Amino acid sequence: MRIGARYAEMLDAGELKPDAAQAAIVEKLDSLQERLEAPPPRGSILWRLAGRKPETPQGLYMWGGVGRGKSMLMDMFYECVDIQRKQRRHFHEFMLSVHGQMRDWREKDPGDPIPHVARALAEDARLLCFDEMVVSNMADAAIMSRLFTRLIEEGVTIVTTSNRIPDDLYKDGLNRHLFVPFIELIKEKLDILALDGPVDYRRQRLGNAETWLVPNGEAATRALSDTFFRLTDYPPEDRENVPSIELDVGAGRKMKVPKALKGVAVFSFKRLCAEARGASDYLAIARRFHTVIIVGIPVLGPHNRNEAARFVTLIDALYEYKVKLLAAADAQPDGLYPEGDGKFEFERTVSRLMEMQSEEYLALGHGAEEAANN
Ligand SMILES: Nc1ncnc2c1ncn2[C@@H]1O[C@H](COP(=O)(O)OP(=O)(O)OP(=O)(O)O)[C@@H](O)[C@H]1O
Ligand SMILES: [Mg+2]
Repeated sequence: MRIGARYAEMLDAGELKPDAAQAAIVEKLDSLQERLEAPPPRGSILWRLAGRKPETPQGLYMWGGVGRGKSMLMDMFYECVDIQRKQRRHFHEFMLSVHGQMRDWREKDPGDPIPHVARALAEDARLLCFDEMVVSNMADAAIMSRLFTRLIEEGVTIVTTSNRIPDDLYKDGLNRHLFVPFIELIKEKLDILALDGPVDYRRQRLGNAETWLVPNGEAATRALSDTFFRLTDYPPEDRENVPSIELDVGAGRKMKVPKALKGVAVFSFKRLCAEARGASDYLAIARRFHTVIIVGIPVLGPHNRNEAARFVTLIDALYEYKVKLLAAADAQPDGLYPEGDGKFEFERTVSRLMEMQSEEYLALGHGAEEAANN
């Protein structure tokens, strides 16, 4: 089915609200879908003999504020496009795997690994969708410039989302001039589309739902699962089958996320903070999910100072990446850790937890402002 028809269907069913900015983008995605699905032109063999490759359809870069529907439209597009070789990747995980493949190639061959990596990617996909593109350091920017150029030459169409207009990628970062070629490449090779209407639909779906529920128990669990279903459009009657994933947390390690859907994850406090976990696990979570729901946060004390210390690290990571936190706990943040080692450091966590409940925080885009620190 074409995305235009699918979108219209959802509007008619009242599942989506009419939105002019989205409609304009759906039109573009629809025509891109048509080009991607078009059979190779007649006589293509002759063309190939004449040295002409079929043209790669131009990709898209959708940018805009949080909750505007970028990921939703990209997912819908991805599902609609009826071709075999397509892939959808979360940008951060994609970069990790590119680094891994570059390492592997270097072991085999001392030359430049990027053409090999691009060739392998192009064999697997002629449509590559990335959600939440951020490039936060020069090394990645340099790799991306060359990799994107190659991928496009190899016939890959790139569709990506971002909270920023290309000119503001890596804004105020050190040595920004080194980054400019990548920005120019994006502007030249991709169709830049704003999806920046007035409504933050995610905020609307959160409604006035409280983000910090006290105490733990049936009422809190029910409220949080309702919010989960609202945020993910998951049918509540199918609650037993919410997908889980194995999240790659780097260095070849994995972490099980018991419920994970559309950028929203659900964890128990136990799984997050009672097991031997550390900053790299929490950063992987913070990068991967825009919303995290934690249930079963107990009142902590001297006997569980390790849990308290991990919780501090966890909240720092979520805060840094502007992750929306919804939680069920046995106390308000300022009553969570009444005494114990590290009580002083915990004050910062309390203050962050309070800030994370504010309208201003909830309106921020997912992702860290790493650029300025590099
Ligand atoms: N037109 C609409 N009517 C109703 N709900 C919508 C509409 N568009 C998007 N939504 C819902 O709003 C929520 C947020 O959308 P989405 O996750 O796509 O935002 P986003 O632009 O990717 O935000 P972010 O920049 O934070 O990643 C989703 O639950 C989505 O289904
Ligand atoms: Mg998104």
